[in-house]
Amino acid sequence: MKRIVIFASGSGSNAENLIKFFHNSDNASVIQVLTNNPHAKVLERCRRLKTSALSFNRIAFSKSNDVLNILKIAQPDLIVLAGFLWKFPEFILREFENKVINIHPALLPKYGGKGMYGMHVHKAVVTNKETETGITIHYVNENYDEGAIIFQAKCEVETSDTAEDVAAKIHKLEMEHFPKVVDKLLYN
Ligand code: GAR
Repeated sequence: MKRIVIFASGSGSNAENLIKFFHNSDNASVIQVLTNNPHAKVLERCRRLKTSALSFNRIAFSKSNDVLNILKIAQPDLIVLAGFLWKFPEFILREFENKVINIHPALLPKYGGKGMYGMHVHKAVVTNKETETGITIHYVNENYDEGAIIFQAKCEVETSDTAEDVAAKIHKLEMEHFPKVVDKLLYN
């Protein structure tokens, strides 16, 4: 059984989708969710889905080995960042080379980097009158949104679309593709 650990900071709709997808799998399972936000809705979702979840602070994450040790014990085959907003420390990345991936709600390298997350991305896409946008699933390296791209999917942006309309289209793409890409990666 392959083991997946998810990091999330907010609502956790992607985390829930992944947990449910792998509930129906004989090959892999989400064994742990970790969050930097003790008030994140993802914790509520994990309670409902009977999935182990923990929250941590900056000291545990990047100023000590606490989160690293949790990961070492969990022995994940893949670490999935699903709406996780903190920069991933290099010393953890080094221990899990090519095993940490992220989903970004735009077609990287466009609309990436610090501060580009969630609705900020969709607002920028609409302001710049883009005709298309999409999702990017990529490996995580020491720079925000710059690791090698694994998968992208596109959608059209209509001139009448608001940032909320774009968010809904992106959400649909994420729900459809993310679990399948994660599943495929586990068997590479
Ligand atoms: C998702 O759209 C994800 O792509 C985005 O945050 C949202 C999290 O939603 N990630 C980023 O913007 C990372 N830079 P969720 O908490 O409902 O899964």
